[in-house]
Amino acid sequence: MELIDILLLFFTFLFLLWWWRFCSATTHKGSKNLPPGPPGWPIVGNLFQVILQRRHFIYVIRDLRKIYGPIFTMQMGQRTLIIVTSADLIHEALIQRGPLFASRPKDSPIRLIFSKGKCAINSAEYGPLWRSLRRNFVTEMISPLRIKQCSWIRKWAMEGHMRRIEEEARDKGFVEVMSNCRLTICSILICLCFGAKITEGRIKSIESILKDVMLVTLPKLPDFLPVLTPLFQKQVREAKKLRKKQVELVAPLIRSRKEYVESNGKLENDEMVSPVGAAYVDSLFELEVPSRGRLGEEELVTLVSEIISAGTDTSATAVEWALLHLVMEQKIQERLYSEIVECVGKNGEVLERHVEKMAYLGAVIKETFRRHPPSHFVLSHAATSETELGGYRIPKDASVEFYTAWLSENPEMWEDPNEFRPERFLNGDGVDVDITGTKGVKMMPFGVGRRICPAWTLGVLHINMLLAKMVLAFKWLPIPNSPPDPTETFAFTVVMKNPLKALIVPRSIYPS
Ligand code: HEM
Repeated sequence: MELIDILLLFFTFLFLLWWWRFCSATTHKGSKNLPPGPPGWPIVGNLFQVILQRRHFIYVIRDLRKIYGPIFTMQMGQRTLIIVTSADLIHEALIQRGPLFASRPKDSPIRLIFSKGKCAINSAEYGPLWRSLRRNFVTEMISPLRIKQCSWIRKWAMEGHMRRIEEEARDKGFVEVMSNCRLTICSILICLCFGAKITEGRIKSIESILKDVMLVTLPKLPDFLPVLTPLFQKQVREAKKLRKKQVELVAPLIRSRKEYVESNGKLENDEMVSPVGAAYVDSLFELEVPSRGRLGEEELVTLVSEIISAGTDTSATAVEWALLHLVMEQKIQERLYSEIVECVGKNGEVLERHVEKMAYLGAVIKETFRRHPPSHFVLSHAATSETELGGYRIPKDASVEFYTAWLSENPEMWEDPNEFRPERFLNGDGVDVDITGTKGVKMMPFGVGRRICPAWTLGVLHINMLLAKMVLAFKWLPIPNSPPDPTETFAFTVVMKNPLKALIVPRSIYPS
């Protein structure tokens, strides 16, 4: 090693040390009385300890919970993560002291490419912008009246879904559940957002690009060590290219809807099927948000994209996991089938008002969410000001991560938690579950408190309808010599590593 190399190394080390101290001083104002946590290395904290384990972050957390219990700290480079795992502390933070823990941490530079100025419901900090966006979404897209008005969109999409799976079974001999459910749910959400029925090809392009956006925005090294950002310029360039593609795909739909709205519905446009005022984006054209005024096209692209992304994978994943259990445990499928037949008849049509009455269907879906929560954490939260939780200090700019998967795995709260047993929600340890967490948290697939998923009833409606229609029309069976594989993998939501493929036999020809 030459002298110059040694000097360079020395000054780099000094610089990093100075930078670390500077960051610690400005971001943490001293790390006194943070929750305990694994001892870290200088400068990088626990970051490389996690990376070197070469397994998903949630497995690391699963093990650390056993050592550090209900609340602990991980110093991931420059970011402080406070991990909260106990039901009591989650309830205290998100319900009893809800407003204090309702904010979001700073976004990474790559995430900011996809939501300029954090102008999206999921990423906006707790404050007037978030309130205005969320209130508009709730009144314009998911009020009970709007959900009822738009039931024809779900009817149209589900008829297409049933035709498609029948054709797929004829052509391939089996049905791939996830891809079909994603396509159907995505087409419903696109129609709710733009009031437009578009071709399957365009739906698939939007769906695929939004999936890429979700993957590209997952945390990367520079999110924890911003000093490394210059080394990741290629990723930043690729993210910008992806954003450009997303805008090119989504903005034309916004423009044609705008023209249609401005013509008061008189413009000839075969794609536009919802009356003026009934699509989510119509409300965004008019919306004035605090300290920004009217929203620009880029912001509209972000706001509709977040809805399509947030509602597609979460619901499709749940249908896939539920069907996995129905395929593997035919008794459960037959009990569900009997309930559906009892309600609508063998040759009847499942309507939205029917599924609300199907108690066993509800139990199957709740058990699916308990056993396979779509995500193991809710989105990252942050405190609006420095506070304390469980006797420890929570700095304002720490990311507060609620590890919710543990709630539904905890043997102190659930009998045989690894078993799939829908009956527990009819007459067992699930009867008292309040999914909104107001009374206490036992499982929380949608989060709880101020940031609870605003559209969870719509998501559950999609899952209810898909499952009830698919089970009434077909018996679902495993493929001989190729049984379903329940191994999990992480693709934003927790999905099946090998997507579920199943045989379907029309009920009309299946001997019962
Ligand atoms: C059944 C499937 C669904 C599940 C499991 C689910 C789950 C979640 C979770 C865990 C959160 C984060 C809560 C937190 O940060 O504490 C969330 C937030 C959100 N979800 Fe859902 N969701 C579902 C369906 C939907 C649908 C259908 C839409 C839209 C049509 C949607 C839109 C949103 C939005 C906009 C947020 C951000 C809320 C905020 O930050 O204020 N979700 N969802």
